[in-house]
Amino acid sequence: MLLINNSGIGAFGAFAARDVERQLAMVDVNVRAIVQLTGLLLPLLHARGGAIMNVASTVAFQPAPFAATYGASKAFVLHWTIALDHELRGSGVRAIAVCPGTTQTDFFQTAGLAPGVENQVGAMSADAVVAAAFRALAAGRSQVVPGWFNKAYTFAASKLPKPVAAGLAAKVLRRRSGEARV
Ligand SMILES: NC(=O)c1ccc[n+]([C@@H]2O[C@H](COP(=O)([O-])OP(=O)(O)OC[C@H]3O[C@@H](n4cnc5c(N)ncnc54)[C@H](OP(=O)(O)O)[C@@H]3O)[C@@H](O)[C@H]2O)c1
Repeated sequence: MLLINNSGIGAFGAFAARDVERQLAMVDVNVRAIVQLTGLLLPLLHARGGAIMNVASTVAFQPAPFAATYGASKAFVLHWTIALDHELRGSGVRAIAVCPGTTQTDFFQTAGLAPGVENQVGAMSADAVVAAAFRALAAGRSQVVPGWFNKAYTFAASKLPKPVAAGLAAKVLRRRSGEARV
């Protein structure tokens, strides 16, 4: 049995300039629903054996100014899933966090960004991300970052002190979200 928690929404821009209700809706979908669905289905997973695949993001690896709530929600998914996988060892159930970078879906359009972001360097097709996720699941891993560009990016981001990594992420995310420099 496989539970895939893929649903997620993004919002870009400075927190102070954005609708708090939208931020809370994002926390509900990206965080609360994953905890709730996993909790509800875990007894069935234990009975049948299987796995939980939670979709995080490369943005989970550093603080993400101009996508602060989205980034933190994905950091939750990444850390929570890996911790859960440890707790589940020997139970016949596993958990894996999938951390895609830019992927060619409707995600950015839904988040209100102009078309084109999904074609930036390192962007992957959804099919390629899914294939990498299932290879990693079959290999027994608890985390996968699909694609060489995303692997290099997250390796670098996770080695830097968090305030430094946040500063670098801010340069990209400020431009992506259309925020003016103050
Ligand atoms: N695309 C990227 O560059 C990228 C990068 C990193 C991580 N991710 C993550 O990948 C996952 C899939 O996103 P995507 O790229 O496929 O984006 P997408 O095309 O916008 O799809 C978002 C999915 O989330 C579902 N969803 C949104 N709000 C929901 C709600 N309130 N209740 C239930 N389902 C809801 C949507 O369902 P409906 O179709 O029914 O609305 C849709 O299936 C997300 O967790 C996202 O954060 C995406």
